[in-house]
Amino acid sequence: MKKQSFRLYGRQKSGSINHAQHELMDQLLPNLDVDIQEIDRSTDAVLEIGFGNGSHLISLAQKSPKTLFIGCEPFLNGVVSVLEHVDSKEIRNIRIHNGDIRHLFPEMPNGIFSEIYLLYPDPWPKKRHWKRRLVTQEFINTAHRLLKANGTLYIASDHDTYQSWIENCISSVYASALFNWSNQNTMTAPWSGWQPTKYEEKALREKRTPHYYVLTKK
Ligand SMILES: C[S@@+](CC[C@H](N)C(=O)[O-])C[C@H]1O[C@@H](n2cnc3c(N)ncnc32)[C@H](O)[C@@H]1O
Repeated sequence: MKKQSFRLYGRQKSGSINHAQHELMDQLLPNLDVDIQEIDRSTDAVLEIGFGNGSHLISLAQKSPKTLFIGCEPFLNGVVSVLEHVDSKEIRNIRIHNGDIRHLFPEMPNGIFSEIYLLYPDPWPKKRHWKRRLVTQEFINTAHRLLKANGTLYIASDHDTYQSWIENCISSVYASALFNWSNQNTMTAPWSGWQPTKYEEKALREKRTPHYYVLTKK
């Protein structure tokens, strides 16, 4: 696939990675590689894009051990954090793509996920960077393609200009033909079963108001 010329994410690594973590990267990560056929075979599969430190992904995977969870994250320290949990808690239902979700999308067949999560995507506040924002008409189209009938796309954001951007996008005629925006009147309340994330905790500490978007495939 032709790689896009601009990046959607910031840092790929922040803290240093110790010897034990390197071993997990070398030994465990290859076993958790995303296998499209495995997703196709599974009775239920869920995708989380940009899982950060992985707290949400791990929590969901532990609650639903029969569901296959696909996590995608270019940030190496976040991937290592998930590997540590997978290893110590013997979690069997997580697979990881340590990279950009856009490189995985074209390989994915239609209708494979019951849920897709995009929690606190990078807001890219400067206007000249808006083209890097992940939520676009193209993203909405892809999410619709990947979801099963009645599947749900969950998005959360704490950044006011990105919230307006997302709300414009999901209320457009285009998106409305693909999804029901089911919580339009209650978007400041998290959806049922919500699991907090690291970025949400930061947003709340800094007194920002998260918006939560629940979109059900038509
Ligand atoms: C603001 S953080 C939020 C992390 C986490 N979801 C949370 O709520 O704590 C955004 C995350 O999205 C990841 N990300 C950005 N662009 C991405 C892409 N194209 N594919 C996959 N992940 C991406 C970043 O590396 C970063 O970890």
